[in-house]
Amino acid sequence: AAALGKDGDFAGRKVVVSAGGTQEAIDPVRVITNHSSGRMGYAVAEAARDRGAEVVLVTAPTALPDPPLVRTIRVKSAQDMCDAVLAETPMSDALIMAAAVADYRPSVMAEQKIKKTAADEMSIDLEKTTDILATARGNFVRVGFSAESENLEANAADKVRRKELDLIVANDITEEGSGFGVDTNRVVLIDREMEVERLPLLTKYEVGHKILDRVSALLKS
Ligand code: CTP
Ligand code: CA
Repeated sequence: AAALGKDGDFAGRKVVVSAGGTQEAIDPVRVITNHSSGRMGYAVAEAARDRGAEVVLVTAPTALPDPPLVRTIRVKSAQDMCDAVLAETPMSDALIMAAAVADYRPSVMAEQKIKKTAADEMSIDLEKTTDILATARGNFVRVGFSAESENLEANAADKVRRKELDLIVANDITEEGSGFGVDTNRVVLIDREMEVERLPLLTKYEVGHKILDRVSALLKS
């Protein structure tokens, strides 16, 4: 490449990034999903590529085109994403889980389209999905994301401890200019030493570089 960002500090490194909101099938035509646009994960993937990394992007459905020069694996459900991430991480240097993964999925997928009945109420039984980030372990840097509507830093810090993360990227989804469907984000980084870094409003691509600065430092240490 002609001009590598940060002097190509990720040359020879493999980075796995997840993105998008998973889709959990209820029946052949219906899914449970969320409002993730995929933009944050795609921006991290592009930033890592621009610093010389070999990038694998494992993405749930989004409206975004595949980023050039990034190996993109398209998945639908949390289970598909889990399988792809666990296949790619053993030989990687970092896993950055920007995907919004469903916590629960329908316990059974109906083979046929569910029909409306005379009853005014209906319910769907759900079961827990695998926590991909908590399960993916090995000799690589592990970064999580935490989208919160309250108690941002306390909830994010709790996830660092529970999932034994190297870093978490937390954002308040109620804040203007942050979160779903926009190109900017204001995030707080919390590392495993519980050091808190509050970043200003940045583009998602710039946030990607801030995350990679931290990953780069961890890979050197
Ligand atoms: N994550 C994951 N697999 C799941 C759920 C979440 O890998 N089944 C990852 C997300 O991609 C994110 C991190 O874990 O990087 C934190 O996700 P979040 O939803 O904030 O945490 P949860 O532990 O699911 O807690 P809660 O939804 O109750 O806040
Ligand atoms: Ca969750």
